[in-house]
Amino acid sequence: MSFPEHRPRRLRTTPAMRRLTAETRMAPAELILPVFIREGLTQPRPILSMPGVVQHTTETLRRAAAEAVSLGLGGIMLFGIPEVRDAVGSAALDPNGVLNKAIADVRAEVGDDLVIMSDVCLDEFTDHGHCGVLDSDGSVDNDSTVEIYAQMAVAQAEAGAHMLGPSGMMDGQITAIRKALDAGGHAETAVIAYSAKYASAFYGPFREAVDSQLKGDRRTYQMDAGNRREAIREVELDLAEGADIVMVKPAMSYLDILADVAAIAPVPVAAYQISGEYAMIEAAAANGWIDRRAAISESVLGIRRAGADMVLTYWATELATWLKEAR
Ligand code: PBG
Repeated sequence: MSFPEHRPRRLRTTPAMRRLTAETRMAPAELILPVFIREGLTQPRPILSMPGVVQHTTETLRRAAAEAVSLGLGGIMLFGIPEVRDAVGSAALDPNGVLNKAIADVRAEVGDDLVIMSDVCLDEFTDHGHCGVLDSDGSVDNDSTVEIYAQMAVAQAEAGAHMLGPSGMMDGQITAIRKALDAGGHAETAVIAYSAKYASAFYGPFREAVDSQLKGDRRTYQMDAGNRREAIREVELDLAEGADIVMVKPAMSYLDILADVAAIAPVPVAAYQISGEYAMIEAAAANGWIDRRAAISESVLGIRRAGADMVLTYWATELATWLKEAR
């Protein structure tokens, strides 16, 4: 009888041994909580397709931000849902618009104790739901959209955001935003670029979350699911344009992209575990088909292992609580 010489199982014998030899660890500091604030709400409103996630009021948003600080989260990413929309998304530029006000409120609540990030995109603000303005034939006009993003970025920096997240996938958006920020005295405001953002079916629940008006799809600006090499091109362009952090989105169906980007990026890499990824795990867990806590932890760990230095996840707060318990 011959026995194996090499026994990898030795390093798996006890929880302490596994803890010692773990290649990937998670900490609250690398988790970013995406949140929704809806104008005119007096009570937080549940998002049915994202059980446990709500559209916040000003009050509950401030509380969520304070909780994020106390748990040691890395950041919070703000999305605003305005009461009134129009063709050009005017509310996005209004200093009293829902998102800009929310940024100011959160900044007043947490100061510099949490990285306050905000979405630079028009889809929540337009009455047609596209991420930009439309030209006469109804297609999304890249260059005029980018001009609005630049103004939006300055408004958000002025409101108090530490880091801006352009998520619209317009060409040249990072350059335009960076230039406008620098010219406006906001050289220290950072940019987390949604560099490789794919047109995905898994954004479904987000559409409910932001009460999206979109008909059709975003395939003329977001990437095709089958394209891998193109992600590198998008990342390299964003780096050349001055991105401080690059992001891959969605996360779980794009782990190869994440690994590719992590291999070349000289800046931190983020991944966004999106609404549909959240919804799938919640739905399966609600049916008793998977162990909720174990599945959530494994899903985020996998995203970290693939190469994400930081993860945007709707479970950020809960995960941080578990990580604290484990210590
Ligand atoms: C666009 C935006 C989207 C998400 C974040 N920013 C939706 C889209 O591109 O259609 C999706 C996030 C999620 O699904 O959790 N501003």
